[in-house]
Amino acid sequence: TRKIIIDTDPGQDDAVAILLALASPELEVLGITAVAGNVPLALTELNTRKVVELAGRPDIPVFAGCDAPLDRPLVTAEHVHGRTGLDGPTLPDPQIPLQAKHGVDFIIDTLRSSKDVTLCPLGPLTNIAAALTQAPDIKQNIQEIVLMGGGFFEGGNITPAAEFNIYVDPTAADIVLRSGVPVTMLPLDCTHQALTTAPRVAAFRALPNRAGPVVAELTDFFERYDKEKYGSDGAPLHDPCVIAYLLRPDLFNSRFINVEVETISKLTLGATVADWWRVTDRPPNVTYVKDVDADGFFDLLVERIGTL
Ligand code: BDR
Ligand code: CA
Repeated sequence: TRKIIIDTDPGQDDAVAILLALASPELEVLGITAVAGNVPLALTELNTRKVVELAGRPDIPVFAGCDAPLDRPLVTAEHVHGRTGLDGPTLPDPQIPLQAKHGVDFIIDTLRSSKDVTLCPLGPLTNIAAALTQAPDIKQNIQEIVLMGGGFFEGGNITPAAEFNIYVDPTAADIVLRSGVPVTMLPLDCTHQALTTAPRVAAFRALPNRAGPVVAELTDFFERYDKEKYGSDGAPLHDPCVIAYLLRPDLFNSRFINVEVETISKLTLGATVADWWRVTDRPPNVTYVKDVDADGFFDLLVERIGTL
């Protein structure tokens, strides 16, 4: 099994990613850290605990991390995810407690005591950057950071230039990309191919368990924004792509390149810039994941959610 820590800001697509991970015996989820992002931290940590219980895994410890980006005010996305961040289904208030330890300390302590841990950030990179900055010695025990973030040929989804997770904390993203730790990025270029079309949502709804119909209710709400605004067939299910990549890398294709993040410009703050043609001597630091086999991805999701 592969040991992972999920760092997240649920978010309907984050919730589906957590469910996929907890349904997958190939992965050992050591803990889940919440971060401020789609909605403030008080909601993302609460939502994380609701999802862990929906998965029937009250044994998974949930921690609250940073409540704001490293050096700027929080930008949220209620326009996409609703006021609670997890609008759609009605999930009961969680019984499991929030862990007392700070999420950043959990990341640091875990990496000091176990080797070969993969970090899976699904929100702004604040917690990860804080951990790397406070405890650079943990780098050697990180197998890989596999994150959802960035946009290249797809442009941005929160500004014309930037994808939400990178835009909210570009300083943190810059720290992560310069850390020397192997980074795999699943940007909008890839996640925009994983659309929640009607037949795919119907497959979740038809599952005989509780988690399947809840996933359908989550995507029903989540896709409202893209359908109304862009007339698309569904919403991109961004964050589960990270977990699917760990499980089935054969469903994706990728390229090893140099990526840097804009941290200053007003116009392009949070833009991810790739040296496609090696016009600089900056060494590659990112495995850029470009495409996903969307049917294979949804087949995997339905199969796994069905086991919960
Ligand atoms: C990312 O932003 C959030 O709204 C989603 O949960 C995803 O992590 C997509 O840009
Ligand atoms: Ca997210």
